[in-house]
This record gives sequence, structure tokens and C-alpha cells, in this order.
Amino acid sequence: MSDKAWSGRFSKSTDKLVEQFTQSISFDHRLLEHDIAGSIAHAKMLGKCGIISQAEAEQIVQGLQAVLADAKAGKVEFDPSAEDVHMNVERLLFAKIGEIAGKLHTARSRNDQVCLDIRLYLRQQIVSILSLLASLQRVIVDKAEEHAESIMPGFTHLQHAQPVTLGHHLMAWFWMLERDKARLASCKERVNVCPLGSGALAGTMLPIDRELTARELGFDKVSENSIDAVSDRDFAAEFAADCAVLMTHLSRFSEEIILWSTPEFGFIELDDSVATGSSLMPQKKNPDVAELIRGKCARVIGHTVTLLTLQKGLPLAYNRDLQEDKEPLFDTVDTVTGALQAFELMLDTAKFNVRRMREAALQGFPTATDLAEHLVRQGVPFRTAHEQVGKLVAWCIENGKELTDLSIDEIRRFAPNAKPSALEEITLDSSVERRSSFGGTAPHEVRRQIEKARKILSEAQSSKSLDHP
Ligand code: ARG
Repeated sequence: MSDKAWSGRFSKSTDKLVEQFTQSISFDHRLLEHDIAGSIAHAKMLGKCGIISQAEAEQIVQGLQAVLADAKAGKVEFDPSAEDVHMNVERLLFAKIGEIAGKLHTARSRNDQVCLDIRLYLRQQIVSILSLLASLQRVIVDKAEEHAESIMPGFTHLQHAQPVTLGHHLMAWFWMLERDKARLASCKERVNVCPLGSGALAGTMLPIDRELTARELGFDKVSENSIDAVSDRDFAAEFAADCAVLMTHLSRFSEEIILWSTPEFGFIELDDSVATGSSLMPQKKNPDVAELIRGKCARVIGHTVTLLTLQKGLPLAYNRDLQEDKEPLFDTVDTVTGALQAFELMLDTAKFNVRRMREAALQGFPTATDLAEHLVRQGVPFRTAHEQVGKLVAWCIENGKELTDLSIDEIRRFAPNAKPSALEEITLDSSVERRSSFGGTAPHEVRRQIEKARKILSEAQSSKSLDHP
């Protein structure tokens, strides 16, 4: 079967350059297992509906299984002149079972087939990314629990703002990743729709049963409109966009790890097994994993833009441009998968320097707001309290003192309404302990978050058995 599937109408063979330019087998071979799964379901349906005989269907299914086994054993060679994975599978099937192979493509077009393959692939990859996300979240929650009381400076504008606990800071990342999971899980609902049976664009005259194939392949529903089914890649753009948000989270978190591992911060030490050295400077230990995650985020943002740009000018229905959807999608999956695994390892093996964080938290008047609030409780208008504490801070800067070095008399020189209890209230521990509003940084609030997070993770774990493979 060296002829093209369309050779009937053609009097010349395809130019080699065109063959090379238009082929997609060099990358879409990654869809092989899904292409075969889709074809097996399709063949069974054709047999059940009497469009081909049961015996033929059986022969095709066995042939496809044999092709899959060969592929898994690394025993298949793809032929670029067979263009894409769909034609290559048919070619390999022909080699197994002969002419009957030609019946597989009954009531089907590569237009609905390719869309089916991508949906099966993405469904599987979303499940795997969701589980990597949950695994990273588990590491975050463990670290947060360990550090529910470890005090660090909280930042705004990268300036010391108010003291927080490391546990609280880490849990912020937990919730961001939780939303990434929700976005991807929701995307999966739109991915999990079966396009098979849409044909080239208009459906088919043959008496197919679309529900049957959809059920066989574990889809939630069948697509309602055949033109929509073969044209649309919005689910692919949506997936990439969700991954771009996720990568942006990992990139931001990486940025913190990069900053925190500098001697200026000294908050974290990365394990030797996840750091790299310099070929020139013997003293260096570099946070390359974090830097590369930050860097690779750019690719995923780029792929999102690619997938949108690819579609923005396309008339309905299928256009060959859509073949260009695969490489950005595959690379998105590879990048996100690698980044999640590497990030988890980096965080899991990292050591936080609690003493250093606490020392840093003491610098820069982090409890100035607490003193102002103390004055407010004594009846001082907030604006006045702000002004008084501001002047006190300026005096401290001039005299090389921190707020916690001061006596009550020194404080009263600027804030006459201050009570002796102010001294206790402007310590780091009290500052953190008393920020106990819901979602605040007080250790018991952080523990409440952790408990809730663990519940979310274990509920997701136990409903996992309902998921697709
Ligand atoms: N390789 C093609 C793609 O990825 C498969 C569909 C080709 N359809 C066609 N009518 N040429 O989009």
C-alpha cells in the first residue's frame, strides 16, 4: 500500500519536498496508542451496527492490537510518506491483515479521528498533571505544618511589611495550586467529549452508533455538531492557558526560592542534589532548577498564544493549519510535567533556615502597625497613631535601634498614650499570634488551613478511582 489514500484522483505522485513539509508522523507518533484505542472502538461499533461483518471487525481489532504490541516492543517503523500517525497505523494494519484493513476507515475521516486522538491524549495527561499537582501540594502542606510557628518577614513591594509565619506563606502556594487543579479539572470536562462519527465535517450516511463508541472510550458525551467537532481546538487552547497559569505560579514560587537562597536572604538552602555549580567559580551553588522553571514558564505562555493565533483566522471546518496544534500541546505537557516533578523534589529536599528568617523578621520595624493599633485601642485616631509611630521609627533609624529595643518611656516620647503592655504587643510572636482573623497568619489559623487542605487532598485521593486512565 505505497499509494496515498487519495491516489485515485491524482495522476502524479507527491513531490518529496511537499511530502517532507506536510508530514506530521515525526511528532504525532506520540498519539499512536490513542489512535489505536479509537480505531478499536470504531471497528467494534462498525461490526455491531452491521456496517462491516463481526468477523471483519474481530480481525481488525486483533490486527490493531498486534500493531500496538509491536509499537510497545519498539518494533514498528514509521514511514514519512504515509504522512501522519493515522495513515501509518492503517499501513501497519494492512501489513498484518491485508485488504480488510481498508474497511477500518469506513464512516470516519482523519478530521474526526485526529480530534479524537488529541482528546484522548489530553484527558490522560490532565489526570496525570492533576496527580503531580496534588503530590506537590502534599509536600507544601507538610512543610507548612513543620513551620506553622516559624516567623519570617512578610513582604510587600519586597520590603519588610509585617511578620508572618513560613507556614502561612507556604499555604498561599497551596491554594494557588488548588485553583490550578480546579481549572484543569473543569477543562477536562470539555475535553471529554467524543467527536468520532462527525466524519470529514457533515456526519455520515452510514448507520453508525456514536453513543456506542463514546461509551467504549469512556467519554461523558458525544459532540452535538459535526462541524464544531472537527473545527474546534478551543479545548487545547484552554488547556494550554490553564497550564500557563500553573507555570506562572511555579515561576513566581521559583523566584522566591532563588531570592531566598542568596546570602542576602539566606532563608533556604537547596539540597546539593538539586543545585548545580559553576564551571569557573568553585564557590558557587546555583538554583538552576528554580531558574529553569521560571524560564520554561515562557514556553507555555508562548504555546497558549500559538494555539490561539493558530485558530483566530480559520474558517470552519477543518483546515490543515490545525496540524500545528500538536507540537505546542506536547511541549506544554512535557514542560509542565517536568517542572512539577523538579519543583517537588527541590522543595521537598530544601532546608529552611528558621533562625535567619526570624532575625530578618526583626529588622525594618515589622511591628510598627501593631504599635499603631495599640494606640488606636487606647482611643488615639488612626491617622494620629500612624504619624506618631512614623516619627518614632524615624528616630529609631537615626539612632540605630529597632522597636523591640525601646523602653516604654522612649516610646511615650512620641506616643504618649502608649501603655506598658505595648512592649509585649510589639514582639514578633505576639504580632503573629494576634493576627487571628479567618485566613490570617496566627499559627492556629494556619493549622486550620492545613487541616482543611489535608481533607481536600484525601477526598480527592479517594475519588480518584472514578477517574479516567
Ligand atoms: N495530520 C492531520 C492533522 O494533524 C490529520 C488530519 C488530516 N486531514 C486532512 N484532511 N488532511 O491535522
